[in-house]
Amino acid sequence: MNNTRIINIKTISTEGMGDLSFFEELKDIPFEIKRIYYTYNVPVQTKRGGHAHKDLQQILFCPYGKIKVLLDNGYEKEEFTLSSPNNGLLIGNNIWRDMIWEQENSVLCVAASKLYSENDYIRDYKEFLELIRK
Ligand code: TYD
Repeated sequence: MNNTRIINIKTISTEGMGDLSFFEELKDIPFEIKRIYYTYNVPVQTKRGGHAHKDLQQILFCPYGKIKVLLDNGYEKEEFTLSSPNNGLLIGNNIWRDMIWEQENSVLCVAASKLYSENDYIRDYKEFLELIRK
């Protein structure tokens, strides 16, 4: 799938004192960050998502826990598991996504290229397929 990919988030490890991971807009990720949000207190096996975005770039990362991300561009499907704090999943426009919480207390963090706008969402799968096949 050409507008999604896993990136390694830069990490500084300090002996006996843990790890620090970071990314910077336009340097480590290909967009400017306008919004950050995170999802937590989600029961295990819950499936969230079920939508695509018309014009939004995002990086998803899981600083704690294990979350499966199912992506679908209307032609092909791909699955990623976010279970390491230094892995990020970049997702571009017009990708249908579902996220499944696989471990208790998992946290999904997202940095996005735009402010929240409900108009940017496609929440109907048929409408999504029609849009990308145009
Ligand atoms: P949604 O993106 O559908 O969550 P998920 O993909 O995890 O299932 O958002 C859930 C609700 O939160 C929806 O009513 C929109 C609202 N919301 C905001 O108000 N601002 C935001 O930045 C986000 C991401 C969602």
